[in-house]
Order: sequence, then C-alpha cells, then structure tokens
Amino acid sequence: MKTPQLWRLGIKDLQMMSAPRHRAHLKKPTWIIVLISLVSVFLVCAYVFPPRNTSACYVFSSSSCKVFADWLPPAPARELTDEEVASRVVIRDILNTPQAISKNPKIAFMFLIPDALPFEKLWDEFFQGHEDRFSVYVHASKGKPVHTSRFFLDRDIRSEKVVWGRISMIDAERRLLANALKDPDNQHFVLLSDSCVPLRDFDYVYNYLMYTNVSYIDKFRDPGPHGSGRYSEHMLPEVEKKDFHKGSQWFTMKRQHALIITADSLYYTLFRDFCKPGMEGDKNCYSDEHYLPTFFHMLDPAGIANWSVTHVDWSEGKWHPKSYKADDVSMELVKNITSITENVHMTSDEKKEIQIRPCLWNGERRPCYLFARKFFPETLDRMTMLFSNYTKHSLG
Ligand SMILES: *[C@@H]1O[C@H](CO)[C@@H](O)[C@H](O)[C@H]1NC(C)=O
Ligand SMILES: *[C@@H]1O[C@H](CO)[C@@H](O)[C@H](O)[C@H]1NC(C)=O
Ligand SMILES: *[C@@H]1O[C@H](CO)[C@@H](O)[C@H](O)[C@H]1NC(C)=O
Ligand SMILES: *[C@@H]1O[C@H](CO)[C@@H](O)[C@H](O)[C@H]1NC(C)=O
Ligand SMILES: *[C@@H]1O[C@H](CO)[C@@H](O)[C@H](O)[C@H]1NC(C)=O
Repeated sequence: MKTPQLWRLGIKDLQMMSAPRHRAHLKKPTWIIVLISLVSVFLVCAYVFPPRNTSACYVFSSSSCKVFADWLPPAPARELTDEEVASRVVIRDILNTPQAISKNPKIAFMFLIPDALPFEKLWDEFFQGHEDRFSVYVHASKGKPVHTSRFFLDRDIRSEKVVWGRISMIDAERRLLANALKDPDNQHFVLLSDSCVPLRDFDYVYNYLMYTNVSYIDKFRDPGPHGSGRYSEHMLPEVEKKDFHKGSQWFTMKRQHALIITADSLYYTLFRDFCKPGMEGDKNCYSDEHYLPTFFHMLDPAGIANWSVTHVDWSEGKWHPKSYKADDVSMELVKNITSITENVHMTSDEKKEIQIRPCLWNGERRPCYLFARKFFPETLDRMTMLFSNYTKHSLG
C-alpha cells in the first residue's frame, strides 16, 4: 500500500525540485537533462526500496549506495516534534530506572466515588488485619462522604466535580495517582468505583498485584464506531488512527506507570482537546476509555496485561453493563466470576469480532479477576456475608 504512494510522492517532489532549474537551462546541452533524469531515477529507487536492504544497491555500486543510505531518512518515519522527543525521553528514563526497594511495600486503593461508598463495610473487612500493607485514597466528586470505617477516616483527598465521559474523569484519576505517589511505599495503584467489590481476600490480591511484572490496563483494537470511529485527526501527528485503542478505565498500575501518567502533559492535552463528547458536531469520544489504552499502546505495550482485573458483565449487550441486585448475588455468581481465566473483547463494527485471550500472570495462566462491578448498594449485606465464606474457603 505504501510503496505506490511513495513513488508518487517521490516523482512529485522531484518534479517540483527540478522543474524551475530545467526551464532555466533549457538551452544547455542535453547531458544535463540526462544527468537530472539519472539522479531522479536514483532518488526514486532509493525511496522505493528500503535503504537498509536495497535492491537499488545492486544497480549502483555499493559505495554510492552507502552514501545515499546515510543521508536518506531511514524508512519514511516522520520527525518527532520537540514535545514528543522531550516526552519520550522522560518516559523511557522512568521506565528504565529500577524501582527503589521499599521495606514496606503497599498497595494504594484509590476510590473514585460521588459522595458515598456503600461498600465501605465490606472493604473494612477486606482490609482487616493487613494494616501495614495498604493505603486508601478517596476522591469524592459530589461532596464529603461520611465514613464509618477507620481505614477510610481522613483519607479524602481534595476533589473536584467529575462529569461522566469528560476529561474531569481523567483529572480525578491523575489527582488520585499524584496523592498516592506521595507515599514512597505505595508500589501498585488500584482504581475502584463506589460499585466495586472485592472477589478475593487481601493476601491473594496483594500477592497478585505486588509480584506481577505488568500493569492491568485494559486495551484492545476496535475498528468499529465505538473504537476507531471516535478518533479525530486533530490528534495528528502525535496520535495516529492505528494507535487509537479502547479499554475499560478501571486499572491497576505499577509505580513507574503511575509516574509516567502523572508526568504526561502532551498526550493528556491531546485527549482533553480532541477526545470529548460532541467532538466535531456529533462525534462522541470518551477520554476515560481511550487515553490510557492509547498511551500505553504507544509507549509501553509490553508493560501492560491488556485486560482489567475488575470484572464487568457486558453480555446483555446493552449500553450499560449488568448491575447486580441482591437477588443476583450468590456463591455461584462469585465462583463463576473467579473461575474465569480468559478475557474477552468484542468489536463494535458489524462483524462483532470476538477476541479471546488467556489471562497470563508472569507467563502462567491464572484467574483474571480480583474485583467486580457493578453492584447495587442493596447487595451489601449479602456480599458481606458471602465474603467471609468465600475468602475462608479459598476458591481455586
Ligand atoms: C538483506 O539482503 C540480503 C541479501 O539478499 C539478505 O541475506 C539479508 O538477510 C537481508 N537483510 C535484511 C535485514 O533483510
Ligand atoms: C499486550 O499487547 C501487546 C501488543 O499490543 C503485547 O506486546 C503485550 O505482550 C501484551 N501483554 C501481555 C501481558 O501479553
Ligand atoms: C454460572 O455459570 C454457569 C455455567 O456457565 C451458568 O449456567 C450459571 O447460570 C451461572 N450462574 C450465575 C449465578 O451466574
Ligand atoms: C513478565 O514475565 C513473563 C514470564 O516470565 C515474560 O514472558 C514477560 O516478558 C515479562 N514481561 C515484562 C514486561 O517484564
Ligand atoms: C457459608 O459456608 C458454610 C459452610 O460451608 C455454609 O453452611 C453456609 O451456608 C455458607 N453461607 C453462605 C451465606 O453461603
């Protein structure tokens, strides 16, 4: 696909370059024209055949080929902007710096809620007895919550209003990350909502997240209207359509990833300005579904798992995922979710292509999910009752 385009480009460029000169020397001997033609052919060949392994080199002598390979851009890759160079060098350096070993490594549980946390009692049980191995942060976007658990007292951070689907959602996530990063003991960061519940006991969650070598950031390629269809070319040149990915916002991430998200302003700004509801008239783009998947796809694809450890049930095929009522909650439901070892993504085009991948933890197959949503507040009592049961009789 690329070659004919380049060929055209090459010819066009050469015509533009050589045309004026051509006219000026019209009366000069024809050997100049011949020379220009030869150089043109040479240039075109050099463009068409990748410089590294050029068949063109067989046509001309290998030494002249080498000279050309030196000044021609290697592949038609575009030149990075100053901001991209700066951004990439910072990100690369953070990713390559080994993490400082903390004597008391903790997991930061970051709750992004409106003004109440209906499952506080359940989380209190979850945290019970593990006091030194976690920290809690609460971002309440609609008003100060009344806390009942000692683990949540004085854990509210300065918060702002969050509008669903708007950049204020990413702002809140970054605010939580920045606050949690202040504690150097925090090594892994979990984002949770008011409708999330734990599916495992604390030790299981702690070991799963603390000893993993990736961040659990959901990501897949969706060529449909709810995927690439939301992309805006205003993001060029930094974000190309092929880089645009989709995924659930509920992440867990390693400290280095939390740092690069906090340090990023280039990609954040592009998503803030060009991925929002009502973009270009009728196009709806939601930064919370695209910013992190796209960012990590471009900057550290091997560093993320490509699925979220927070389960949600989209099987009803509606605009919103299934919300569990008290009657839906049972041991069987919990067992069903915790026994899943494959993650599933479906594209939003007519093909509705289903992508199924095994959940790999440091290369070995493990259950995918540690948390689940969305649970109505009315399920609290049943979930709390079940919790002690399913965590005591540890599930497979
Ligand atoms: C370059 O071409 C040579 C000869 O055709 C081949 O042996 C070599 O593997 C090629 N190198 C690359 C990087 O493709
Ligand atoms: C996630 O996907 C990327 C490619 O998009 C891949 O390089 C990476 O290995 C995947 N992560 C895991 C843990 O398999
Ligand atoms: C659990 O999974 C089984 C087998 O897929 C299914 O038949 C059953 O309805 C599920 N139960 C619940 C409560 O989701
Ligand atoms: C994580 O561990 C697996 C298994 O050892 C390995 O294949 C993979 O490359 C590792 N990923 C990273 C980002 O270190
Ligand atoms: C909890 O487990 C016990 C023993 O396995 C069982 O008898 C009891 O019914 C369970 N409770 C719930 C709410 O499932």
